[in-house]
Amino acid sequence: MPNVFASNHPLVAHKLTRLRDKDTDLKKFRELVREMAALLAYEATADLATVSRQVQTPLAPITGADLKERIGLVPILRAGLGMVEGVWELMPTSEVWHIGLYRDEETLKPVQYYNKLPVEPTVSVCLILDPMLATGGSATATADVLKRWGVKKIKFVGLIGAPEGIAVMQRAHPDIPIHLAAIDDHLNEKGYIVPGLGDAGDRQFGTG
Ligand code: PRP
Ligand code: URA
Repeated sequence: MPNVFASNHPLVAHKLTRLRDKDTDLKKFRELVREMAALLAYEATADLATVSRQVQTPLAPITGADLKERIGLVPILRAGLGMVEGVWELMPTSEVWHIGLYRDEETLKPVQYYNKLPVEPTVSVCLILDPMLATGGSATATADVLKRWGVKKIKFVGLIGAPEGIAVMQRAHPDIPIHLAAIDDHLNEKGYIVPGLGDAGDRQFGTG
């Protein structure tokens, strides 16, 4: 699949296995989401633009690099929240803009309940953060919002994607690369990813 990147890093595979395990407790689950988000964001940001900057080491001058663009982290509430801290530690000057969406249980369509984006875009690159890309409705709706806001470069960073959701996202936004830890087999009749990890929001927040 063009523009879809499933990590083949052993650390990601190891952590994902623990995350999937139904016996992994709440605290460990949150820790794994945070750590995996950082590893995946590291891979997803490999092509960010930089500008040269001169610094003086204790021994000599050298031309180094600074990130060029203003970066926005866009977690989709709720489950994307758990991915923020790990990524933010890597890019502490990023802005964090929350988008609140939930899936209607009957239709599986995303319903937006939170969006406080200002009129003018304040960032030039956005990383959409959401552990699960299931039907693709939430990711697609968030990308729509960010493009309307005026962001030119967007990437999706998630943990597990279903082939169905990846196809939907790619049809709607072929320009947006999708970075995942794994691509799973299918969606069940309730729109859950199989084998997946269950409900990413409930497993992070102890609900459900
Ligand atoms: C989950 C998940 C995604 C969405 C993915 O959120 O975190 O946002 O489902 O499904 P989709 O690809 O079919 O849109 P959910 O609606 O369960 O809300 P929550 O994060 O508040 O638990
Ligand atoms: N949301 C989840 O949390 N898990 C799934 O498998 C699908 C959507």
